[in-house]
Amino acid sequence: MKVTVNEKYLKGFIKESDLTPLHSLLETAHDKIMSMNGEGSDFLGWRDSIIKQDIEKYNRIKAAADKIKRNSDVLIVIGIGGSYLGARAIIELLKSPLYNSMKKNTPDIYFAGNSLSSDELNDILKICEGRDVAVNVISKSGTTTEPAVAFRIIRKMMEAKYSKAELIDRIFITTDKARGTLKKFADNEGYETFIVPDDIGGRFSVLIAVGLLPIAVSGIDIDKLIAGAASAREQYFKDGLKNTAYRYALLRTALYRKNKKIELLCSYRPSFRYMAEWWKQLFGESEGKQGNGIFPASVVFTTDLHSMGQYIQDGERTIFETVVMQKNSVNPISIPFDAENIDGLNFVSDMPLDNVNNFAFLGTIMAHTDGGVPNIVIEYDNCDEETVGELIYFFFLSCAASAYMLGVNPFDQPGVEAYKKNMFALMGKSGYEKLGEELKNKITEL
Ligand code: PA5
Repeated sequence: MKVTVNEKYLKGFIKESDLTPLHSLLETAHDKIMSMNGEGSDFLGWRDSIIKQDIEKYNRIKAAADKIKRNSDVLIVIGIGGSYLGARAIIELLKSPLYNSMKKNTPDIYFAGNSLSSDELNDILKICEGRDVAVNVISKSGTTTEPAVAFRIIRKMMEAKYSKAELIDRIFITTDKARGTLKKFADNEGYETFIVPDDIGGRFSVLIAVGLLPIAVSGIDIDKLIAGAASAREQYFKDGLKNTAYRYALLRTALYRKNKKIELLCSYRPSFRYMAEWWKQLFGESEGKQGNGIFPASVVFTTDLHSMGQYIQDGERTIFETVVMQKNSVNPISIPFDAENIDGLNFVSDMPLDNVNNFAFLGTIMAHTDGGVPNIVIEYDNCDEETVGELIYFFFLSCAASAYMLGVNPFDQPGVEAYKKNMFALMGKSGYEKLGEELKNKITEL
């Protein structure tokens, strides 16, 4: 396996005996995942979807991606939460956070409908002027406000630019097979649709059409991505209770029980920033329930050592770090020699920058562990499609196991509804009148 867990930096924080009482919890969690008899088990579709891809549907994703690559300069991906984070994460990690600014023969990709900001949407509309555009609307429910609002606005722009017949080649809808209005709308207009199965929730959907279509448009090899996830699945199932994903789940659960309530996912590459955003949703929405759960946060080092470093080193001791380290680089760059040595850096001249980054990692991990912050290190050699597929499955499985060990349903998100109800009530949506009155009175009394 390419992804491994290094426990060296947990010395002094966790003993094997701390893990012993957790083994029976892990066994129960494993049984719930394997026998599909736990809370929310009707949302375990992600477990096998990678080996059960319907070949006709899978080929349609590739064909749609090819069409977009041929006919468009820009792809706008409209979706929020699990309906966009995975695609953005993988594109930034495997291509670049600067993907849109780079010379390439694939379309630029912009993400819309993940906020209610008019500034951002206006910018995207401007970027589309004079360019050929395709749109992939992704919403399992088809009724989420942010993407629905963005689609209305972007649709207007598309309708002004293209004929009805042309739009059929440019608008792609990824949604539930029946629920909501999006499927009906797409069918009426003749737009191609991709179905989000009932048994896969948003945050577990990056390896189906939700993530795969935008990822394929960026030129990433989705066959290899799926192959990486499938081989991780095979190995983890074979290793059973001893698999690496469960080991990570055990370690973080043990740390939580030692009052380490905040997990900081740390990376040393800005290209990992959106993977961390995806991971935060995965773990935060799966575990944060009934007054429980590790708070998932993230930092990019060394950038954030100059902002969050002080707190991590010296603040409240409720943090542990999970560092994701890529060992090799495909684009090494060395520090040049400078005859004048104005900055005094000639002692590192000719040294690859990745070595300097690695010294930063070692220096930081020694300092943080000395400061009372336990560190789990997740390592892999190269950042390629197979490894990223494996990493995704590693986090899926460890997340499900961690949440079951915590005693919560990993696959629901009841808490997300609270703000939506209030927002609808305040905006005067029909059916929410009583709550609207209550909220307005409450705000006046504050
Ligand atoms: O993980 C989840 O279920 C959520 O983040 C959803 O993906 C998000 O709320 C968007 O929902 P929908 O795809 O129904 O628009």
